[in-house]
Amino acid sequence: MSTAFLAGKCTAADTHINLILLILIMQFYEVLEKRHSCREFSDKPIEPEKLQNILNTVASCPTAGNLQAYKVYVVRSKETREALAQAALGQNPVIQAPIVLVFCADKDHSGKKYGERGEELYALQDATIAASYSQLAAEAEGLSSVWVGAFEPLEVSYILKTEAAVVPIALIPIGYRNGPVRVTQRRPLEEIVKEV
Ligand SMILES: Cc1cc2nc3c(=O)[nH]c(=O)nc-3n(C[C@H](O)[C@H](O)[C@H](O)COP(=O)(O)O)c2cc1C
Repeated sequence: MSTAFLAGKCTAADTHINLILLILIMQFYEVLEKRHSCREFSDKPIEPEKLQNILNTVASCPTAGNLQAYKVYVVRSKETREALAQAALGQNPVIQAPIVLVFCADKDHSGKKYGERGEELYALQDATIAASYSQLAAEAEGLSSVWVGAFEPLEVSYILKTEAAVVPIALIPIGYRNGPVRVTQRRPLEEIVKEV
């Protein structure tokens, strides 16, 4: 936002552009604020262009050395979702949601450049950031999601036939919410932020 706008010293065109920017910024924060885990999905399918937007957003996320050391598996088949749900303590959203994105760390890809730090940290971080982006993009598209982290990684790897160094980090069921949003609270900032 320009200082001229904030000081009230700009042309009509500047004001128009700044107002658009203001609305876009508000929409961004609204998306963040509105996102809450969804554990009840309707069976309404996801429009292909929405999924494409989500995947494009995922690909735009920052990664160590821009290596994009993650893999995303797009799971649509009910049979595979059922198998994944079994590997995830029977969690229902994995079966209900029409699409489950499985984010994996590609350890070899990062390890080739960054050695052990790449394998053990950066690849996991890359996959985690990518998964976060998918949740925010889904929300921006009017969809809902939930991060499913409680699963047996070896079982998921077996189901998806991943390469040995491609390790599942998160299952993200995505779809249309069925039922009300359950708003969760956060710890006070003072508990988690420390000025040093
Ligand atoms: C690393 C991680 C693992 C999670 N695992 C699960 C899970 O296995 N099942 C589930 O229902 N939610 C899971 N969640 C979702 C959290 O419970 C949820 O994000 C948190 O309670 C905050 O609620 P909100 O997402 O509605 O804001 C996980 C979230 C993260 C970040």
